[in-house]
Amino acid sequence: MSIIDLRSDTMTRPTPQMREAMANAVVGDDIYGEDPTVTELETRAAEIMGKESAMYIPSGTMGNLVALLVHGKPGDIALMDKECHIYVYEQGGVAAFAGLTPGLWESENGCPSPDFVQSYVGRNTRAYPPMGLVCLENTHNRRGGTVIPPDQIKAVHEVTLEAGVPLHMDGARIFNAAIALGVSVKEIADQVDTVQFCLSKGLGAPVGSILAGSERFIVEARRVRRRLGGAMRQSGVIAAAGLIALTEMPARLRDDHANARLLVERLSELDALELEPDKAPTNIVVVRTDNLSVGAEEVAELLKEKGVLVTLYGPQMIRFVTHHDVSREQVQSAAEITLGVLKSLVA
Ligand SMILES: Cc1ncc(COP(=O)(O)O)c(C=O)c1O
Repeated sequence: MSIIDLRSDTMTRPTPQMREAMANAVVGDDIYGEDPTVTELETRAAEIMGKESAMYIPSGTMGNLVALLVHGKPGDIALMDKECHIYVYEQGGVAAFAGLTPGLWESENGCPSPDFVQSYVGRNTRAYPPMGLVCLENTHNRRGGTVIPPDQIKAVHEVTLEAGVPLHMDGARIFNAAIALGVSVKEIADQVDTVQFCLSKGLGAPVGSILAGSERFIVEARRVRRRLGGAMRQSGVIAAAGLIALTEMPARLRDDHANARLLVERLSELDALELEPDKAPTNIVVVRTDNLSVGAEEVAELLKEKGVLVTLYGPQMIRFVTHHDVSREQVQSAAEITLGVLKSLVA
């Protein structure tokens, strides 16, 4: 039985071009600032995001953590969506390492209303903890790969700028967001102060993320990265793959979106799933199992028996992610298999 792995776009393996670039990378000690490949990656990343400076970092989690540590002081509030990756999946680094107090909002696509943000940033700090930062996630993973358009971010940014509170974006999949919105990544990144994005998801690099922001922010971010043990030596070996991910892979994310659309449209034929294809605009499809005769864990198990791997996203939620290493034909057959399994579970 062939396996169709739709658990995550982190499953993507480096392309032959990436492996060749890695083998031939010119390297040096990056802690001395002497790795030309890392420097090139950082320079290109800053240009593409439209930020003064950028830093290569081992993971998205560490990129977000560095932003939390640089922007906030212990006790400060880090305002974020209650389903965001920083709060749900980063092992509580926001509290454990940054000492921040999470303030949470509920939303459709990951973005709060400006009034909600104002209700926090405008508070009296003699009574309430001061604001450290506001974090957005774009695309929003647990909300189904949803996107936040630049105008919506801008409305929030106007509030945070006025209050002098930094706005950070976990843009792990910012390139997916840009493609779905028909804008450049810069148009999105322009609306936030700092942005983290992953090279190792749909862009296919084996390792690494970028944290971008002002020159001053990145100087401090480099110190904090070192403190966390995330500064690296001849990391040009992996940055070489990151450069290809950054420059050659974004355009192909369109295929992942088209494949996710195919999947969600096929599955939406089953009324019990109550799927709305337009609510899955990128490469992530979240399916609720509430109207099925068994819960999400059993559904994931039944799909696995038929060769389709998905991620368990809670007692009543499973997630499918399309990516470079699954072809359109494979997604088509995963859709047929899934539909067959789920039809048999409609009460
Ligand atoms: C939205 C989002 N942010 C951050 C991360 C963290 O990235 P990493 O796995 O590189 O730490 C992920 C990883 O899945 C993610 O989906």
